[in-house]
Amino acid sequence: MAVLVTGGAGYIGSHTVRLLVAQQREVVVLDSLELGTKSRIGSVPFYEGNISDEKLIEKICKKHDIDEVIHFAAYKAVGESMEQPLRYYNNNVAGTINLVRALLANGVERLVFSSSAAVYGNPNSVPVTEEEPMKPESVYAETKAVMERFLASCEAIGLRTVSLRYFNAAGASADSTIGEDWSMSQNLVPLVMKAILGFSGPLNVFGNDYPTPDGTCIRDYIHVEDLADAHIKALDYLATGGKSLACNVGTGKGTSVLEVLDMAEQVSGRKVPHVITHRRPGDPVSVFADPTMVRALLGWKATHDLRDIISSAWNWHSKAEANS
Ligand SMILES: NC(=O)c1ccc[n+]([C@@H]2O[C@H](COP(=O)([O-])OP(=O)(O)OC[C@H]3O[C@@H](n4cnc5c(N)ncnc54)[C@H](O)[C@@H]3O)[C@@H](O)[C@H]2O)c1
Repeated sequence: MAVLVTGGAGYIGSHTVRLLVAQQREVVVLDSLELGTKSRIGSVPFYEGNISDEKLIEKICKKHDIDEVIHFAAYKAVGESMEQPLRYYNNNVAGTINLVRALLANGVERLVFSSSAAVYGNPNSVPVTEEEPMKPESVYAETKAVMERFLASCEAIGLRTVSLRYFNAAGASADSTIGEDWSMSQNLVPLVMKAILGFSGPLNVFGNDYPTPDGTCIRDYIHVEDLADAHIKALDYLATGGKSLACNVGTGKGTSVLEVLDMAEQVSGRKVPHVITHRRPGDPVSVFADPTMVRALLGWKATHDLRDIISSAWNWHSKAEANS
């Protein structure tokens, strides 16, 4: 019996693989390595390939006796998705359909899926509960919403699934060996680190005239190691007979862009070079989770705060600077 982790050589996947290994669970990784790095996962059994390759999925399932899957593999760049809808639907949606067909043909009945708070778009109210309708505002978010609906309907054909709607994953491993590479990400925390360390010009802060206490947008930052733990709790929920569901994974605390910059300055002892620029079209003002469902059904709760997130990211990024 083993868990197959698709996209396990990526940012969140590799932290999850480590936690699974630390808990002595059998793990196998499948990743195309288009956006992942094999060295992140050590000596875990690894297959380089695509989730659409049904023959390869069959081979992995048979060889490793796969009984559950965590499905991270996807493209995730919002801006790029607007320019390349075919590529995003093909990789994320068609890829997931092919993967699920191969899994069902090989007797796999449980899957945990990387969804996103982006499915809510600009929510009507915060904190966001799962009652909030899905109103995706990008092709990327559309693909997540379509996949959630597809997976929910697969319960009727024997696949139970948990779709985890992540809020903003950030931070690095406690031992500072893996983290979020700024060359692969447009997320705020790696871009803050890049600016502090002088590998970019000043950071763009997109708008300071929003109706929030300091005028900048508010998000819910969740430590990547807490997020990894949510996946394992979701596997256990399904293994003990849980029904398919979609739930938020967030801390429940909103943090503004300027609060992130302030924490980065406190932790690093350096200034974050930044400029205030125009609002980005489509950026929601404030999005943070109501984590009641994930606590009640999966028994999960965030254990790290913003300082832990920024400290771990700073330790990892500045170590890379020291080695360069
Ligand atoms: N990072 C975030 O804040 C965030 C927030 C919400 C949701 N998510 C979702 O979580 C998942 C993981 O995100 P991440 O930040 O670790 O991204 P990532 O790009 O670091 O990891 C994705 C991995 O999947 C692999 N991959 C992509 N398409 C593949 C395919 N067709 N076959 C095999 N491998 C493939 C890539 O090579 C990469 O290693 C994604 O589905 C993403 O949409 C991420």
